[in-house]
This record gives sequence, structure tokens and C-alpha cells, in this order.
Amino acid sequence: MLDHNKTPLYDALRKHIESRVIPFDVPGHKQGHGNEELQKLFPKSVLEADVNSMKSLDFLGNPISVIKEAEDLLADAYLSDESFFIVNGTTQAVQAMLMSAVNEGDTVILPRNVHKSAINAMILCGAKPHYMYPHFEAKFGMTIGVSLEEVKKAIEEAPEAKAIFLINPTYYGVISELKAIIEYAQCQGLLVIVDEAHGAHFPFHKELPKTAMAYGADMAAVSLHKTGGSLTQSSALLLNTRKIERDHVKTIVNLTQSTSASYLLMTSLDLTRKFLMTQGEKNLEMVLELARNARDKINAIDGLIAFSAKDFNPEGCYGFDETKLGVCVTGIGLTGIHVYDLLRDEYNIQVEMGDSHNILAIFSVGDTEKRVNQLVSALSAIAQKYKREPLDLKFNSFNATAVAYSPREAFYKEKERILITESAGRVSGEFVMIYPPGIPILAPGELITEEICAYIELLKREKGSISGLKDNNVEYLYCIKE
Ligand SMILES: Cc1ncc(COP(=O)(O)O)c(C=O)c1O
Repeated sequence: MLDHNKTPLYDALRKHIESRVIPFDVPGHKQGHGNEELQKLFPKSVLEADVNSMKSLDFLGNPISVIKEAEDLLADAYLSDESFFIVNGTTQAVQAMLMSAVNEGDTVILPRNVHKSAINAMILCGAKPHYMYPHFEAKFGMTIGVSLEEVKKAIEEAPEAKAIFLINPTYYGVISELKAIIEYAQCQGLLVIVDEAHGAHFPFHKELPKTAMAYGADMAAVSLHKTGGSLTQSSALLLNTRKIERDHVKTIVNLTQSTSASYLLMTSLDLTRKFLMTQGEKNLEMVLELARNARDKINAIDGLIAFSAKDFNPEGCYGFDETKLGVCVTGIGLTGIHVYDLLRDEYNIQVEMGDSHNILAIFSVGDTEKRVNQLVSALSAIAQKYKREPLDLKFNSFNATAVAYSPREAFYKEKERILITESAGRVSGEFVMIYPPGIPILAPGELITEEICAYIELLKREKGSISGLKDNNVEYLYCIKE
């Protein structure tokens, strides 16, 4: 175990700031001099820390000193052989992970409820998806995890697959049978790569689910900026070097990593790793208590369900991250999108997302009892003020899709503009999703069904923030030309 009180990158950055070097390099704001509005918004310490690479601060593209030391500490914290600091969001980590594991034409097995970054990675590298369709929990209108049986079936159907891509946990906190799946897939000769965008806090409290690295996965993408507490866009790619070489991954990461990596982001990773390793357990204890109390109180409100493991079919749910507070609101006659808007417009509360059935509040090390009480009170007030007949929404959209072309084939094929209401039976040439969560309702190359069209119409009516299409008004969809 390394000394996690150390912060090599932070120390080097402080030393640099204290040395008052005269800057004739980029960034051109030169610590904010001359731009008063910039100075007003960002404290001096932030502007002074916003520097570019130099010998004393190492270079992210080929780290050999303080960044490498900080990466080694992060790798140790996450039980992996190596780590890569990532500054272009977990999108970049997911893409580098997939592109490191598979080549053009290779098949990768993955659950259909992946984030769009995984499908975009296949457009970039030309790999072909073989989807597993995770269990669909109709009551909550969401897909959850995959079972070991589902994985076995997929491997049987696609024996040529080189890698399997997993999600740990899903956006709503659902955990698949990770240990057994990793062991089985590796025995079958597959590389196991895992999107842990929402599991950055897992290693730091014994009552939280285990990470993919703890079970020997080959790679994982970890969004430290989401639930770890580092600055937005800072992330990490973790690697076990048994089957994939560090230098190969470094080359791939550098295809898309900025050559002007932000020291604000990187230093926040260094400080966050120290914080999580030295104070994470105590803080997460408090977070778990807050989330458990909130869940109990919300479940006592008529019409609301703050779900947890017991509410899901064990086929797709092997564990649960209690710090994700998802609440099904259809029992009060509203959609999640509507409640998401009410919370923001009437109670000044921003939750992570709202979908057709649910809202999701993320609990993390920055939360307080006072704010949690405000959220619970607002939900209680909404339930009283707006309660109507329960909504009975029947959508099974992710299960209904089928792949006609690989994402890359579809991306480059000739397309034509079709009214969404008339698009059932055609093959989509583009993405349709709401963000968050950024899980495609349709991806390029997928067959459009009546059910998907109806689902998109519902999201439009509810003013969900639909993206992915060329048409901002979401009337037309580019389909593959027949
Ligand atoms: C499961 C999952 N993977 C990857 C990402 C991409 O992360 P980022 O927004 O940091 O690029 C997200 C973002 O929401 C996500 O939910």
C-alpha cells in the first residue's frame, strides 16, 4: 500500500505557483490579468493554477514524474495495475477502453443500455456490437442489469467476440452479478471492460458494492467527477496489465486526449484520491445514512416509491448502490420529467434526471442533512399538491430494438429524412436519446418500432431534453435510405 497522504501533482503545482514564474506560454489569460470579469468569477488561486504542461509539472501525454506518481497512487486506490488520468470526461475513458480492447471488425458483447459513448466508440473503431438485452423492469420503465445466464447466452451466440463490456452500476444504481460474470467471461477468453462511470465511490466504503477491478476485470472507466468529488470532466481509465499492455493503452488514450490537459482537472484527481483514501469511509458512512433515511421517508409518502434492490427482479439485480436515490413517481399521476421540472421550477432543487417514470437524486460526499430534508419535503409537497390517478405507462423500448447495421456502417450509409411518426419499420441513421442519462433510445443501425415512436412522442410531450438528432425540433429522423 502506498502513502495516500501524498499529493505529488498538487505539491508540484503549489511550488510552481509560489515560484512566480513569468508566463510567456499558454494559457493566454496569464492568470486572468486584464480580464476583470474572469477575475471576478474565478478566484486568483484558480486562475494561477490554470497552467499548461512544463518540465516541473510533467506532461499528461507521456507522464514520467509528478503526473505518473499521482496516477500510480490512483491505480493503487482502485486496486488496478495502472491508471490514466483523463480530462475529456468518462466519454473519453470509455472510448479509449473499447478501442484498446477491440479492433476494426471485432465483435464486442455489451448490454443495450450502454451510454452513447460506447456506441460512438464503435463508430470510431469499427467494432460490431452483439447486444444483450437486460432485464426490463416494467413498473419503473427501466432496463436494469444482466444475469450470468444472459451473458452465457450472448457468448454462445457470438463465439467470435473478443471482449465483453459491462456497466457497474447502472445509472439508477443496479448491480449485475459482476464477479461470476467476470470470471465466466475471462474463462471463455474474453477481455472484460467495465463502464463504472457511476461507481467511483465504491472502493471507499465496505457497505458499497465491489468494483470490477476488485474482481480482476481488464479495464474500467471511472467517473471520479460524478460521485468521487473531483472537478467536472476529470476521470480515469484503470488497467490490469495481464492481457493488455500499458503502452498500447497510452497510444490509444492519446488519440483523443487533449495536449493541453487542464491542471485544475488533474490536480483535482490527485486531491480527490487522497480525500477518498483518507476520509472516504467516514464521509460515505454519512452519505449512506442520509440516503437510507431519505429513502424511508419518501417511501412513506403515498404514491412514491424510492426503490432499492428488493423492488427489482433478481434476474437483473444482484446488488444495489444505495447512494442513488431513484424515485418512481407514476403513482402520483406524473412522469419523472414533470417532477424533475417541478423540483427545479418551484423548489429550486436540481436532481440528476427525470425520465418517463422516475427521478434520480445522486447522493455524494458533498451532501448535508438540511439539503436532503429540503428534497424530501419538496417531494412530499408535490405529491400532495399534484396527486392524480396513477399513470399506467407501458413501454419496453430498449427491448424492442434490433440491429440491422453496425454503428459504423449506419453512420456512413446514405440517409433520408423521415417524419418520426412515419418511421416505424425503417432503420435509424442517427441517435435519439434524452440526456441525462445519454442511453440511446435509438442508435444508428437499429430498427425503429411503433413502440419507440410512441416513446419519443411521450418524451416530446413531456418536454424531455431529447438529443442526438440533426433536427432540433425532433420532428424528423434521418433513416438509412432504402
Ligand atoms: C454510464 C455512463 N458512461 C459514461 C458516461 C460519460 O461520462 P462523461 O459525461 O464524463 O463524459 C456517462 C455520462 O453520463 C454515463 O452515464
